[in-house]
Amino acid sequence: MDLSNRLNDPALFKTQSYINGEWVGGDASFAVDNPANRQTLAEVSDVGEAGAKAAVTAAAEGFRVWRKTSPFERTRVLLKWLELIQEHTDDLATLITAEMGKPWREAKGEIAYGAGFVEWSAHEAARIHGETLPVPAPGARGWTIRQPVGVVSCITPWNFPAAMITRKAAPALAAGCSLVIKPAPETPLTALALAELADRAGFPKGTFNVICGDAAKLGPVMTGSPDVRMIGFTGSTEVGKLLMRQAADGIKRVALELGGNAPFIVMDDADLDAAATGVAQAKFRSGGQTCVSPNRIIVQDSVADAFIERLEAKISAVKAGDGFDTESDIGPLIHDEAVERVDALVKQAVSGGARIVVGGQPLADELGGSFYAPTLIDGGSFDLEIARSEIFGPVASVYRAKDEEQILGLANDTPYGLAAYLYTRDMGRVHRMSEGLDYGMIGVNAPMVGSASTPFGGVKESGIGREGGKWGVEEFTELKYVLLAGVNS
Ligand code: SIN
Repeated sequence: MDLSNRLNDPALFKTQSYINGEWVGGDASFAVDNPANRQTLAEVSDVGEAGAKAAVTAAAEGFRVWRKTSPFERTRVLLKWLELIQEHTDDLATLITAEMGKPWREAKGEIAYGAGFVEWSAHEAARIHGETLPVPAPGARGWTIRQPVGVVSCITPWNFPAAMITRKAAPALAAGCSLVIKPAPETPLTALALAELADRAGFPKGTFNVICGDAAKLGPVMTGSPDVRMIGFTGSTEVGKLLMRQAADGIKRVALELGGNAPFIVMDDADLDAAATGVAQAKFRSGGQTCVSPNRIIVQDSVADAFIERLEAKISAVKAGDGFDTESDIGPLIHDEAVERVDALVKQAVSGGARIVVGGQPLADELGGSFYAPTLIDGGSFDLEIARSEIFGPVASVYRAKDEEQILGLANDTPYGLAAYLYTRDMGRVHRMSEGLDYGMIGVNAPMVGSASTPFGGVKESGIGREGGKWGVEEFTELKYVLLAGVNS
């Protein structure tokens, strides 16, 4: 597929890194493939360790300029970036669908979601402020100011190639920080297009850098350089732990949005149709490859059969296919290893006593890419691997449980704590159970928890820090206290 011919604005198709306002190549390169058909879309330059060092140096220089700009100037440039992102929605969505696989209309939804973080952060830039404080000494004055943390390294995932960049970059820039962004090797094209739009928006040189290449070479510079003061990461808990260890040496701040194992709880008083619709929406978003995807659908015994019947009807209607085909509801998984992993989880669940209601097999032969059938499984045990680890695929797995107390115990029996969902019409239950669930976000009768204005993040091994809303901007600031002695009035 020749992507440059598919874009309205072919200049968005970039295969080099963006460092200090220039497009920079490297000695090596890596292939970016379309998971829907395994065709190579681009060979992207790997800038290696030298490129990473150049980007950090540029960002340190860019920080000295950007931190001095007025918040209103930062708002203005961010709003220009927003306008350009919105204007180029179709092209950005095309890049996402080609390199990641999600259906084009869903990719457009991701651009709207991602643009929301730019819009919110642009306005938040002018709302960053300190406070005056009561202090003990007579005549003295105390106050706080909030200042940008400094150079931030952002390491972003492939499941939301645009939104996970804007959710970090926009608040960091609003606060006055500069950036070195490393997108996932599977999805650099969207990131580089966002860099091209940032260039057009007019961020000063060095403020915004995007580098591509081998994580083993780029990562140590991005985490180890003394110029870097913060690491923002979305991805697996395993890599998050590694980054946290690397950050510890320089006592760098971390904001980590890691893996999940979301319970989707359906109580006996729930609206079962709404709950089945909710599972289908949350489960099949990004083909089930989201860290807030319902991983364990826990249904109260008395309504389990009726609920599964409704869910079966929904899931049977979900069509997998190429994201550019308007009939497709879900695209492929990111690569063949992901298909193999999901299939192994399903097979193990079946040998452990679960029943496949719909799907349950790879569709690679039929569809010619890394596809897995939309799947519903019933009756597994909570000890199975499919209940303990993140499925990251289009498999809805239903479990049965007795009452509130047992359900809360099962839902919390995991090292993860990102998102949980609760379907009930009983307000007492809403309070008791949302307070009892050890998770950072709870969707009550609501299958989508993320938005530009609200805090996104987890507890336990699901991460540290919050993205979105005023909290997302605050993460990129340092609180400084100033005491002025003895001013007599
Ligand atoms: C993620 O899966 O990492 C993010 C999902 C979201 O923002 O809803």
